[in-house]
Amino acid sequence: MPWQRVQGRACTGPCRPGRMGRTTAYRSEPENATPMKTLVPPELEAYAETHSMPESEICRRLREETFRTMDCPQMCVGPLEGAFLKILARMVSAMRVLDIGTFTGYSALCFAEVLPPGGAVVTCDIDPVATALARRFFAESPVGSKIDLRLGPALETMSGLAGPFDVVFIDADKVNYVKYFQRAMDLLSDRGVIVADNVLWNGEVVRHPPPDATTAAIQEFNRVVRHDPRVDTVMLTVRDGIALIVPKSRAR
Ligand SMILES: C[S@@+](CC[C@H](N)C(=O)[O-])C[C@H]1O[C@@H](n2cnc3c(N)ncnc32)[C@H](O)[C@@H]1O
Repeated sequence: MPWQRVQGRACTGPCRPGRMGRTTAYRSEPENATPMKTLVPPELEAYAETHSMPESEICRRLREETFRTMDCPQMCVGPLEGAFLKILARMVSAMRVLDIGTFTGYSALCFAEVLPPGGAVVTCDIDPVATALARRFFAESPVGSKIDLRLGPALETMSGLAGPFDVVFIDADKVNYVKYFQRAMDLLSDRGVIVADNVLWNGEVVRHPPPDATTAAIQEFNRVVRHDPRVDTVMLTVRDGIALIVPKSRAR
C-alpha cells in the first residue's frame, strides 16, 4: 500500500497505525481527532510542545479547522515541528523557502511567519481541496502575501523553479523523496539546508523486508542521503522523524 487513500486523497503523513508507534491524542489535537502516533512517550511529546515557542493564533485556527474538516489531518506538521521549522529558518537567515507538500498550509504559514520583509515561500501540492483551505488562511494572514502556492506535481513545479532556496522542506509523497532530494540539491543556496519529514515513518523503517512500498521508499531515501558524499545529515526523533541535511562544503 504505497499511500493510504481516504476519500480519493493520498495520505502521505503519519496517520497509519505503526508497529512501534504509540497511539495517543497529541496535546494540541482536538479530543475527537484520530490519534497521532508519537515515537516518544506522549507525555514527553506534550512537554516538548509546551516548552517550545507557541504557534500563532492563525496557525492554531488553521490546525483546528484541518482536524475538524480534513481526512488525515495528522499530516499537518503541528506546533512542535512548526516551531522547529521556524527556528531552523531563522538560524539560516532564510529569505526563500521551498515547502514541498502544502496540504492545508500549516508548514508554509510557519515559514512565512519568520521570514523577513522581502522573504518568500514557494509551496506546492496536487490536492485542490486541501490547498483551497490553505489559500483561505493565507489570504487572512498578514504574512500570506509571502506565500506562492503552486498546484501541481512537485517534480514538475521544482523543475520550473530557479534557486536559490535557503530551506527546502520535503513533506509530500514518500515514493518521490529521493527525486525531491536530488532536485533540492540543485536549488539550494550557499547557506541552504534540506529538511525531510516522516523519515522514521511510525517506526516502520526498522522492518526488513519493508512491509510496503512507502516504507521501502523512505528506507531508500534515508540510505541515499546517508551515503551521498555531498552532504552531512542527522536524523532527529522529533515527531515522526526529521532528517536535517547540510551540504558538506559549508563545513570548511
Ligand atoms: C504530509 S502532507 C503535507 C503537510 C504540510 N507540510 C503541513 O504542514 O500541513 C503531504 C501533502 O503532499 C501532497 N502530495 C502528494 N503527492 C504529491 C505530489 N506528487 N506533488 C505535490 N504534492 C503531493 C498531498 O496532497 C499532501 O497534501
